[in-house]
Parts: sequence; structure tokens; C-alpha cells
Amino acid sequence: MVKTYLDNAATTPLLDEVIDAMVDVMKTQYGNPSSTHSIGQEAKAVIEENRRKIASYVGAQPAEIIFTSCGTESNNMIIKSCVDHLGVERIITSPLEHKCVAETCLEMKKLRGTELVYLRPNNKGDLDLDKLEELLKASDKKTLVTLMHANNEIGNLLDIDRVAKMCKENGALFHSDTVQTVAHLLLDFNKIGLDFASCSAHKFHGPKGVGFAYIRKSSGLKGLITGGPQERSLRAGTENICGIAGMGKAMDICMKHLDDYAEYMQEVKAYAVDRLISNIPGVKFNGRSAEPEKSLFTVLSVLLPFKNPLIGLQLDMRGVAVSQGSACSSGAGKPSMVMMSVLSDDEMENSTPLRVSFSHRTTKEEVDQLIKALGEIIAEQQ
Ligand SMILES: Cc1ncc(COP(=O)(O)O)c(C=O)c1O
Repeated sequence: MVKTYLDNAATTPLLDEVIDAMVDVMKTQYGNPSSTHSIGQEAKAVIEENRRKIASYVGAQPAEIIFTSCGTESNNMIIKSCVDHLGVERIITSPLEHKCVAETCLEMKKLRGTELVYLRPNNKGDLDLDKLEELLKASDKKTLVTLMHANNEIGNLLDIDRVAKMCKENGALFHSDTVQTVAHLLLDFNKIGLDFASCSAHKFHGPKGVGFAYIRKSSGLKGLITGGPQERSLRAGTENICGIAGMGKAMDICMKHLDDYAEYMQEVKAYAVDRLISNIPGVKFNGRSAEPEKSLFTVLSVLLPFKNPLIGLQLDMRGVAVSQGSACSSGAGKPSMVMMSVLSDDEMENSTPLRVSFSHRTTKEEVDQLIKALGEIIAEQQ
């Protein structure tokens, strides 16, 4: 069966050029980058070349890019070290964060007694940034603000410039989980003025198992993994050279076509919104996900006007892959914190959220396949 893949916020397929770049490195660069001989140093050069390139794409200095295994590791490293090494006593966050941020913050509260303050979103998923400013001014405690740039379930975009400015003015550290936006939006970390950010290659057609943490120079942050001088002693362990090369190549391609891809995905998303409205009476969209200015073009969070917890499975049986939440929580069998934050009790009881997410390779025909499959499922239910 031809598969229709509409789950690109969970992960994206590798591009052929990325596979080629990785295979080339696998075949030619077997040296250990820490070895002092030329075979090792050649491998090291691959890493440093990609570090320079990646840094230039996100407005960072090469020394500010620390390669890690994924977005989850980057977020853990940043939050934990802020508490353990930078004296953070209070974390301001929101219930919309990815689990790897949410659970790490909770762990800091449990293990270190860190005060946790949540900015509560309204039913559109908007955060009250005036309230954030109030909170920042109200306490002298050393504070970390951790708020994601684009939400992985509803696509809502944070006004990251405003938050960075506020944090700077009030002496707070600012970390943003930029996993869904790196290589999709033009980001200049230095210009924005944030302290820490995170990235994962598999969200933009790179390989799984590699990402980076952006750590502002002289921030004093330390790593989680000890045992070697790699990554400026912030992340010990022999580097994933072919993963890093694959991430660099994926970024080359996505950054080169950034505007075209964005425009194309906006168009596909608008098409999906239109087709859903025309074909499913009563359909709604969660958060700001159907508002092009306020949400990321990769994510459309749909609210189907009936209860069907098996919808993901039924769509899969018809060859359509979507998500009923984020990939990390859709298997958990209970609604995610994000859905609980934006849906009313009645909506939770009587409707079904579905996340449809796009890449530059998604076609309108694939959207039509989704509409057709949903039509069949709805007809069967009646
Ligand atoms: C917003 C966000 N943060 C973090 C992660 C975790 O990234 P990784 O899969 O690289 O651990 C994800 C992945 O779904 C995500 O969407």
C-alpha cells in the first residue's frame, strides 16, 4: 500500500543527499576525532567544518554549538546544569512544553527544590507575556525561563524576541526549545539574545540520534556526560561523525530553500484547512494552528467533531500516518498536557484531536488521501 506520511512533526524522512553525505563519511572517515594522527584529524575536520557551518546558519559562534544525541539530551543538559551549576533557584515555564522539558523541570523541583512557576495558556494556547514580565520583576531569585519556540502539537509560535528582551532586562536566563523551528525558520540566536537553545536533526530531514545544544559563550554551563574532553568538555564521548555530517547536509538543503519550502508548506497547510472545512462539518482547529501568522506551517492540529479514540489506527489501516498528539505522548493513552490546556471539558469528552504535519515533500494529493480516509471512517461510524 502506498503510504501517506503526514506526521512530519514526529520525524521527517532522510533526504537522499543526506544519506549520500553520511555514507561518504562512514566509508572514508573511520578515524577517532580525538586521535592525534592524520586519520583522526581528518575526522575531526569533518566535525569542525560542520560546526562552523551550522553555527553560521543559526547566528552562533562555532564554540557555542555543542553536538549531542538529540533534542531531549540538549534540553536535559541545559536545564539541569542551569540549576546545578548556574545557581538557578526558580524556573518559569508553561504546560505546553515537550515532555523532555516538562519532566526535567519537575525533576529539578523534586531533587533540588527548585521553585517551578507555570504560565497558564488561554484556550488558544497563548501565553500571557505581561504576566511573565510581572513574575520576572516580582522576585530576586535567580531565574531560568524555558519556553518553546513552536509548539509540536498545536504549532503556536512564541514571540521569542520579546521574551529574550524581557529576560535580559530582568537578569533571567532564557532557554528556548527550538527543536521544531531550527532549519524551518530563519533564526539568529545571537540577535535574538537567548542564552540556550536546542535542536534535533531528524525534524528537518537529517538523521535520528544527533542534535545540538546552543550554549551562549561564557554562560558557564556544564555538561551531563563526563569522561573526556570532547565538545569542549561539555559532552564526553566519541562524536557521531556521520550523524553530524548528515545534520550539516540537511541544514544546507533546508536553509538554501528556506523561503520556498516555507511558502510551499503554507500553501499545503491552507489547502488542508480548506479541504477539512469543506468535507467535515463542525471540524475545528486547536490553538492558533489554522492562523498562518501565529503558528508554524508544519503543524495543523485538527479537532474532529466526534469521539473516536481509534482514529489514528483506522487511518493507518488506510495507509495514512498522522498523530493523535505528539509521537512521544500518543502511545500514552491519555490526553497530553497541551490538549488538556486548550480544550474544554466538553471538547475533551466529545471530540477527537488529530495532528497533521507537513514537510516540503508533502503533496496536496496526500492531503486528499487523508480527507478520503476520514470520509470513509465517518461514513462507517454512522
Ligand atoms: C518540541 C520538541 N522538543 C524536543 C523533542 C525531542 O527531540 P528528540 O526526538 O531529538 O529527542 C521533540 C521531538 O518530538 C519536540 O518536538
